[in-house]
Amino acid sequence: MSLAIVTGSNGLVGSETSIFLLEKGFDVVGIDNNERMKFFGLDGDTRRIKNFLKNKYSNYTHYNCDIRNKEKINKIFKKYKKRVKFLLHAAAQPSHDWAYSNIRKDFEINATGTLNILEGAKNNFPDTVFIFTSTNKVYGDNPNRLNLIEKKNRWAPPKNSKFHKGINETMTLDNCTHSLFGISKVYADLLVQEYNKNFGMKTACFRAGCITGPNHSGAKLHGFLSFLVKECLRKRSYQIIGYKGKQVRDNIHSKDLTQAFWNFYKRPINNAVFNIGGAKYSNCSILEAIKYIEEKLNIKIKKKFLKKPRTGDHKWYVSDISKFQKFYPNFKIRYNTEKIIDQILEETKREIL
Ligand SMILES: NC(=O)c1ccc[n+]([C@@H]2O[C@H](COP(=O)([O-])OP(=O)(O)OC[C@H]3O[C@@H](n4cnc5c(N)ncnc54)[C@H](O)[C@@H]3O)[C@@H](O)[C@H]2O)c1
Repeated sequence: MSLAIVTGSNGLVGSETSIFLLEKGFDVVGIDNNERMKFFGLDGDTRRIKNFLKNKYSNYTHYNCDIRNKEKINKIFKKYKKRVKFLLHAAAQPSHDWAYSNIRKDFEINATGTLNILEGAKNNFPDTVFIFTSTNKVYGDNPNRLNLIEKKNRWAPPKNSKFHKGINETMTLDNCTHSLFGISKVYADLLVQEYNKNFGMKTACFRAGCITGPNHSGAKLHGFLSFLVKECLRKRSYQIIGYKGKQVRDNIHSKDLTQAFWNFYKRPINNAVFNIGGAKYSNCSILEAIKYIEEKLNIKIKKKFLKKPRTGDHKWYVSDISKFQKFYPNFKIRYNTEKIIDQILEETKREIL
């Protein structure tokens, strides 16, 4: 029986991938210490996901282990070394707001934590596929320099821009503001690449835009669509930080992202660095998302605008996923933003109303 190790298994990406693999018949070893609740309070509590996985799947084993504890990580990896076929590293401190006031801890989790997972894998199962969820924040605020045009409800790049259809992997990482979160992820992202180049490990970096889906424990500091839907349902108001609410994010459903991981697992390649996201198929500005929710629920949302944007925040980010699709032509985005919002609305209504 094949076995997968998933770090961050109670978070959005980790839980979706765990469920997918469990359903495929893998044994899954999940590692997650609910650090998300420490970051974001009760909104970020992931215990419901842990309980769901443990109760529903007899082939799921959970370790409440901190990825900063390299001895414990190595011990777990050693225990399963002969059977591990797939590793997803999705445990992280995911918010750039939180990192701003917790620089060292953010670095210890995102950078040193990733080093611990890579070393554990190299020492115990160096031939196993190793997937890392990186972020579009590695490009810092470079996408803001595209001479963006202000439209009625969104920012947009000019038609003659090289990145007009989306940001591809040729976007530079230099000469920009990354945010402190962006920096710890850049370190992890480059380190994951080096383990492929230096040690021949089958590593992949997926640089994602906004990842979303009903499994997200959305909190103010992380989980844009999920938190927006919650706020609209609970308070009928939403605070918009910077860029007049016209900032554009692309949204990929965690199920679609899992499909991308699976494609890579089945046919890993070297130098695997991919931008991934909802791309041209699934993106919205905050104003557009709110408008959609208002129309859907026939309500009016009170918007509070803060002028100052978050440091390093993107005004417009749409992923160009053509590199990934070139290597994996069967991969498709199946969920657009409307479909994703509908799903989160249903799930959130059940939870909070
Ligand atoms: N959600 C997004 O919009 C998004 C976008 C781009 C990249 N990413 C990246 O994808 C990955 C997964 O994101 P997510 O949205 O699933 O985040 P998430 O917060 O939902 O999941 C991460 C999980 O890791 C756990 N965790 C955190 N620190 C830990 C530690 N020290 N030890 C053990 N477990 C720990 C948390 O408790 C949480 O359950 C992260 O690397 C994130 O940076 C996310």
